[in-house]
Parts: sequence; C-alpha cells; structure tokens
Amino acid sequence: MNIRKLMILTLAAGAILGAANMAQNSQAAEKITDVREDGMKEMGKALKAIKGLVADNGDKAEIAAQAQKIVNNSAKIPMWFPKEAGLGEAAKPGIWDQWDKFEGNAKNLNTQATQLVAAAQNGSDMSAIQAQFAATGKACGTCHEDFRKKKD
Ligand code: HEC
Repeated sequence: MNIRKLMILTLAAGAILGAANMAQNSQAAEKITDVREDGMKEMGKALKAIKGLVADNGDKAEIAAQAQKIVNNSAKIPMWFPKEAGLGEAAKPGIWDQWDKFEGNAKNLNTQATQLVAAAQNGSDMSAIQAQFAATGKACGTCHEDFRKKKD
C-alpha cells in the first residue's frame, strides 16, 4: 500500500470514529433526566459542603465557590425539565401546568444563592452567611414541596 492510500484510510477511520462519538453525545443529550439528577445531586453536595464550612467557621472563599455552583446549576433547572423528557421517577406532574411557579422557584433559588456568594465574598460575619445559607436551603425545600414526590 502506498503512503497516500494509507493516509486516506486513516482519515476515513478517523471520520467514522468521529461520527460514533457524535452519536454518543446526542444519546447523552437525550438522557436529560440523568442530567437533571446529577445537577440536583451536585447542588446537594455543595449545600452540604457549605453547611460544614459554616459550622466549622471555615474558609469564606470556599463557601463562595460552593455557592457559585448552586448559582450556576439553578439557572439551568428550567432546561432540565423539557416537557417531552417526562417526569422521571421523582417529579410531580404539576410542573408544566404551573410552569411560572416552577420557574419562579428556580429563580428564587438563583437569587438566594447569588446573595450567599455575595455575603461570603464581602466580609460578612459568619452569622449573616449562615442566615443566607438557611434562606438558600429553604429555596430548595420550597420547590421540592411543590414539585418533588416524597420518597416512600
Ligand atoms: C425549581 C424547582 C427545584 C429547585 C429550586 C430545587 N429542586 Fe431539587 N428537585 C426538584 C425536582 C422536581 C426533583 C425530582 C426530580 C428528579 O429527582 O429527577 C428534585 C430532585 C432533587 C434531588 C434528588 C436527585 C436524584 O437523585 O434523583 C436532590 C438531591 C435535589 N433535588 C437537591 C436540590 C438542592 C440541594 C436544591 C437547592 C440548592 C434543589 N434541589 C433545588 C426540583 C427543584
């Protein structure tokens, strides 16, 4: 085989692998219920980390960094619940009938978490940070009460 043929074959193989990769990516995109669960879990971890940091009078920059994850994820919540993706196992059916309320809950969390980042960054004392942490956790709870099925 001459070198030119070999190169063409190599390129072709690369293109096939590329296409397989793309197919895999779009499959991943369809699994929005997984993205949703992972994103929620990530917020749960961040919230837990902040709780520990507040209790141990920990690093405020780290509190801000964890809270920023909640800011980022909360902005995506409405995108995690496209109607065609269905409820999954844990969401209540009211979400799309009460979409404004659902979106409002997500926005409220975003606002509270943003204020938590600010409190951790602007030299507030730990008790003020703790109060804003509680408000952030409450914003999770509000939406869960409205739209998340209770575990049996
Ligand atoms: C706008 C509504 C809304 C807000 C705000 C919200 N959640 Fe959720 N969350 C849901 C719904 C609905 C479910 C159930 C859907 C699911 O689990 O697939 C859920 C599920 C979860 C789960 C279970 C995920 C799994 O494994 O299935 C965790 C953990 C969670 N949320 C944590 C949080 C935390 C922490 C916050 C706040 C920082 C938060 N959520 C804010 C609506 C919300």
